[in-house]
Amino acid sequence: MSSYDVIVIGSGPGGYVCAIRCAQLGLKTACVEGRETLGGTCLNIGCIPSKALLHSSHMLHEAEHNFAKMGLKGKSPSVDWKQMLAYKDDVIGQNTKGIEFLFKKNKIDWLKGWGSIPEAGKVKVGEEVHEAKHIIIASGSEPSSLPGVEIDEKVVVTSEGALSLPKIPKKMVVIGAGVIGLELGSVYARLGAEVQVIEFLDHITPGMDAEISKVFQRTLKKQGLDFTMGAAVQKVDATKTKAKVTYKLRKDDSEHVIDADVVLVATGRKPYTDGLGLDALGVKMSDRGQIEVDTQYKTNVPGILAIGDAIDGPMLAHKAEDEGMAAAEVVAGKHGHVNYGVIPGVIYTHPEVSNVGATEEQLKEAGRAYKVGKFSFMGNGRAKANFAGDGFVKILADAETDRILGAHMIGPMVGDLIHEVCVAMEFGASAQDLAMTCHAHPTYSEAVREAALACGDGAIHA
Ligand code: NAI
Repeated sequence: MSSYDVIVIGSGPGGYVCAIRCAQLGLKTACVEGRETLGGTCLNIGCIPSKALLHSSHMLHEAEHNFAKMGLKGKSPSVDWKQMLAYKDDVIGQNTKGIEFLFKKNKIDWLKGWGSIPEAGKVKVGEEVHEAKHIIIASGSEPSSLPGVEIDEKVVVTSEGALSLPKIPKKMVVIGAGVIGLELGSVYARLGAEVQVIEFLDHITPGMDAEISKVFQRTLKKQGLDFTMGAAVQKVDATKTKAKVTYKLRKDDSEHVIDADVVLVATGRKPYTDGLGLDALGVKMSDRGQIEVDTQYKTNVPGILAIGDAIDGPMLAHKAEDEGMAAAEVVAGKHGHVNYGVIPGVIYTHPEVSNVGATEEQLKEAGRAYKVGKFSFMGNGRAKANFAGDGFVKILADAETDRILGAHMIGPMVGDLIHEVCVAMEFGASAQDLAMTCHAHPTYSEAVREAALACGDGAIHA
């Protein structure tokens, strides 16, 4: 039996970051992981592999649509799917090995196997029981399916199966127009699949600023994605090679059936806490299956903390990372803190979509007086040069104080641009503060400054 200050259960972005911070703070740390590689869903079957496929399929799109315009002539590349998957797997390998290296560097023990907590202060991995003063659960989440829809990860797949399909399907039906459905749907649309997205609501990406959501849907339609809105999927009947998807339109209750070679179920995720033994320990859970914690990530059982997708809040890798660092600081006797008002969200399609802070809808509902500054990428020289003029930046600021309350963007590299606004918001900046900051020309980030200028006396290039 070995004895630790901290054992972290799960090595996703929440868990591994937490373990590294614990070690940096001088705590003897171990991390339990049952997968063959570290990194959890995000690195192995989520964020990282999907970005590799988004990148390669975007390059194909550029070659097919924009190369000739720039004077780059010749046949556009054809898709070698096996090689594309090998490239994706190589990217995964580089990242997961990177964490293994960081664990060694920080002297963190990787306890290989699936962990459970037989009692507070003890973690069982395989046949071995280890002692820990603090246990931090970072067990993440798993896809949640629908009644009547059985996942086989071959024909009816979650994001995991969709990242390793044996071939590019001719027809893909995506259930759910959320982040996963749209990112992976656009990958396969670019690779030549006919993609039909079926969404229960009347708009895509629930919770997103409505104006951005509309423009985003229009853009995706132009790229060939087909949307059936206001439709509730009832069931999927699958054989070994095909599927039939039955859905009902909410407006008239009419039933429809469509065929697909592959069905991607992207209807959300749920906390994964199976096998940890939380019931027997009496750990308090919410009715949505999340572990309940206080503001210091402590559960009701002393010595057991939880972070990331297994607790409340947006299921985002970076939210889990921040909580991981904060929880490490808590167990080290410091003051861990996460500002939940400034957590960016990014959708890595082309164009990208990003947001931070309040939406216009939320401000209206709160009865808050606000002003809007907008700037289109059509007025941005760099974007025009790169065929990336679609989209805009929108900044919301308090009508009286000019303090930035939120930002919503669709356009080139906005997943990176959003952080300028995040930093500004962390410092309590006004739109004028951003507007008065010199921005290099020509960069995409000038669009952020112009939107900030539009909150005041006006954008220059509009
Ligand atoms: P989601 O919650 O974003 O979207 C699910 C969609 O499915 C919703 O629009 C919902 O209305 C729809 N839906 C539910 N039941 C339906 C039915 N019976 N018929 C038709 N439509 C139905 O979930 P998603 O995309 O699966 O993502 C899961 C989690 O993973 C999210 O929390 C997301 O934030 C996170 N994630 C984040 C990424 C990023 O930040 N880039 C990438 C991938 C995942």
